[in-house]
Amino acid sequence: MEAVSRTAQWTAAARALETEREDRLFADPYARTVADGIGFELLERYAGAGTVPFLAIRTTYLDRAIVRTVEERSIRQVVFLAAGMDTRFYRLPWPDGVTVYELDRPALLDAKATMLAGEPQPAGRERRTVPVDLTQDWTGPLKEAGWRSDEPVLWVVEGLLFFLPEDAVRTLISILSAHSAPGSVLVGDVISRSALTNPLSRPFLNCLKEDGNPWLFGTESPEELLTECGWDVREVKQPGEEGADFGRWPYQVAAREVPRVPRSFLFTCDVPAAEGDTR
Ligand SMILES: C[S@@+](CC[C@H](N)C(=O)[O-])C[C@H]1O[C@@H](n2cnc3c(N)ncnc32)[C@H](O)[C@@H]1O
Repeated sequence: MEAVSRTAQWTAAARALETEREDRLFADPYARTVADGIGFELLERYAGAGTVPFLAIRTTYLDRAIVRTVEERSIRQVVFLAAGMDTRFYRLPWPDGVTVYELDRPALLDAKATMLAGEPQPAGRERRTVPVDLTQDWTGPLKEAGWRSDEPVLWVVEGLLFFLPEDAVRTLISILSAHSAPGSVLVGDVISRSALTNPLSRPFLNCLKEDGNPWLFGTESPEELLTECGWDVREVKQPGEEGADFGRWPYQVAAREVPRVPRSFLFTCDVPAAEGDTR
C-alpha cells in the first residue's frame, strides 16, 4: 500500500474510538479491523490539533448529509472518491437499489477486500470498487464499472483534497461538476491555507511529510474554490459551528474574518440547474 493510503487506516482508527464510546455518534463496527495496528500507531503519531474530535464530527456530518441526500433526491449512485477504509456501504441505511462506487489506489482496495472478505454483503445494495489514480483519468474506469453520467450522483470527497496540489484539486472538482446530471450533490471537506503554515501545526505537518504524505492544499475561501469549479455552494461549516458540532468540538470557533487561523471546512454543494431545468 502507498504511504498516503495508510492515512485511511489512521482515520479508521479514529472512527473505531468513537464507535467504542458509550455516547457514540455513530457505529462503525468494521473500523477496528480495517484500521489494524498501524491505524492506531498513526493516531498516536498524528495526535493533537483536535484530530480525533474532528474526525468524529466529519464522519457524523457526512453520514447525515449522505443519508439525507440519497433520500431527498432519490439518488441511486454514490461515488466515494478516495474511499479509503470507509465502510458506509455496510453501515448506513441505504434505500434499495443504491450502487456505491469506491474509488482509491489499487493496493488499498486489495488490502481492504482482504480485511473485509468475511463480511456478508447487505441485501438490496451493490458495491463496486474502482482502482484509480484520481490525478489521472478516472471517469473512464468509473463508467466501465457502471456509473451513468446522465443520472444524478452523490459525490463524496472526504479526507483527500489536502494531499493534492492545487491544480489537481481544481481539475478534480471541476470534473465532478462537468459530469453531474441535474440533482447531483457534492459533499466533502477541505482545510484552510493557514492550516499549512501555522507554527502550531508544524510538528503534525512534519510527521505527515516524513511519512511521505505531505499536505499540499488549503484555501481560506472554500466557497470561492467550489463556485469557480462549477458548484452552487449550499453550506460550508467549521467544526464547532451549529450543525457541525455534535457535542464533540472542544475549542472555540474563530470567526471567518480572523486571519491566520488553521481551519477545517465541511461542505455541501449542488450542481447548478441546467437552463430550462425546473427541478
Ligand atoms: C485520509 S485517507 C481518507 C480515506 C477516507 N475517505 C476517510 O475519510 O477515511 C486518504 C485517502 O486518499 C487516497 N488517495 C490519495 N491520493 C490518491 C490518488 N491520487 N488517487 C486515489 N486515491 C488517493 C488514499 O489512498 C487514502 O485512502
